[in-house]
Amino acid sequence: MLHKTVILTVLTAFLALSAGCTREVSFKKDVFPILSENCLACHKAGGEGLAKTGLNMENYEGLMKGTKFGPIVVAGSAVSSTLVLLVERQAHPSINMPKGQPPIAAGKIKLIRQWIDQGAKNN
Ligand code: HEC
Repeated sequence: MLHKTVILTVLTAFLALSAGCTREVSFKKDVFPILSENCLACHKAGGEGLAKTGLNMENYEGLMKGTKFGPIVVAGSAVSSTLVLLVERQAHPSINMPKGQPPIAAGKIKLIRQWIDQGAKNN
């Protein structure tokens, strides 16, 4: 009897831990602060990036609308999202983002990827 209880307790703890690894990434708490720090200087009203591309990252709606050429976030698919290609430096060097600055830290890019794969929600 005692053994069963111990095994169940260990199992429950393990399940709780693995669930914690795939927590839902928040747009407001996780993703927006990264964009705000690395992109907003140019992609907001009056900024060079907004003027040249139409991409305004001041809020969720602007980010999802994308540039004048189309969306940069494909909800549910980080690998298809231009946003990810640019910050991972997979596109032409002239359009790596953030423009003229070192790449965003890998851990932060991972958060952006997870958020997009989880549906790019306004959460
Ligand atoms: C220093 C200013 C600056 C910063 C910071 C910046 N951008 Fe840009 N961005 C630009 C400019 C200017 C363009 C227009 C293309 C060019 O001149 O290189 C552009 C273009 C783009 C485009 C359109 C690319 C295309 O041709 O389809 C995307 C998407 C983009 N930026 C995303 C971002 C993201 C995401 C960040 C933050 C990680 C960011 N930018 C940070 C200035 C900036």
